[in-house]
Formats: sequence, structure tokens, C-alpha cells
Amino acid sequence: MSHHDERTFVMVKPDGVNRGLIGEVVSRFEDRGLKLVGAKFMQIDEELAHEHYGEHADKPFFDGLVEFITADPVFAMVWEGADATRQVRRMVGETDPAESAPGTIRGDFGLDLGQNVIHASDHEDEGANEREIDLFFDEEELIEWTPIEETWVY
Ligand code: PPS
Repeated sequence: MSHHDERTFVMVKPDGVNRGLIGEVVSRFEDRGLKLVGAKFMQIDEELAHEHYGEHADKPFFDGLVEFITADPVFAMVWEGADATRQVRRMVGETDPAESAPGTIRGDFGLDLGQNVIHASDHEDEGANEREIDLFFDEEELIEWTPIEETWVY
């Protein structure tokens, strides 16, 4: 990992998984040149949901959010690259798909505040990326690797 690179946490939420959008989301980050260092298809349990969304425990939408995020599987990922947390958030769009620009993931696919396809670490919340990576992944599940530079092209 070079010095300006950082890792960020991203997951396709149950609505995105149900709609078959895992590949679409992965493609966008691959196309952008970010490097995948970890991924798993998993179901979030009540405890993990409470830890992950704990800061929203007092919000009126909290119970519904926990129910939604635990109902079906998610696809959790760690992506690495320069300024990755902020760059991923720019590609994701705003929390509300209605406010998200076309071309962003939520702007193109999101339905509403809950069913917004994807979660990504907040770049304005210092250390959120590392906290979320730690919460979802064990160290040995993250792969340190260097992509080959087109040596596979004949
Ligand atoms: S806040 O109040 O600004 O801190 O909340 P926000 O950052 O906008 O949203 C936090 C996450 O909660 C989800 N959310 C909701 N889910 C279901 N129903 C409603 N009404 C709702 N409002 C917000 C929202 O999708 C955010 O999820 P993540 O996974 O963090 O993007």
C-alpha cells in the first residue's frame, strides 16, 4: 500500500443484492481504478447491525433500518486507492437518491432513503473507514497485492 493510498468500506445493501446490482457496483469501482482488497457475501445479524448503525440508535428510522439491513444478504467490500473514501462517496452520491446526481450509483439506481443500494464509509467522519473495515473484516481476509500491468495482454 503506497503512502497516499487508503482503504474504505463499501457494501451493497439487501435491496441492491435483491435487484442483482452486485456486479454493476463492483464494475464501477474496478473501472475507476480502485483495487479490491477484500469482499464477502454475508448476512448481517442484529448485533452487527446495532454496532454498525449505532450512531443512529435514537433516530425514528433506526428499527426499520436494522430490520432492512438484516433481512437479506449484503455484499461487503474493502477498496483501496488514493483518497479512496472521498472518491467512493462521490461515486455513491447523496444519502437520498432523489438528491443524487445521475451517474452516481444512488442517482442511477437508488429508490429512497432506505433502499439506496449501497453503503460507503463517510469521509467526513474521521476514521470511519478503518472502524467499519475492522467491524466487518478480520485482518487475514484483506489481501495485500499488486495488480500486474497488462502483462496478460498478448
Ligand atoms: S443522518 O440523520 O443524517 O445522520 O442520517 P443519514 O446519514 O442521512 O442516514 C444514515 C443511514 O440511515 C439510512 N436512512 C434510512 N433508512 C431507512 N429509512 C429512513 N427513513 C432512513 N433515513 C436514513 C440511510 O440510508 C443511511 O444508511 P447508510 O448505509 O449509512 O448510507
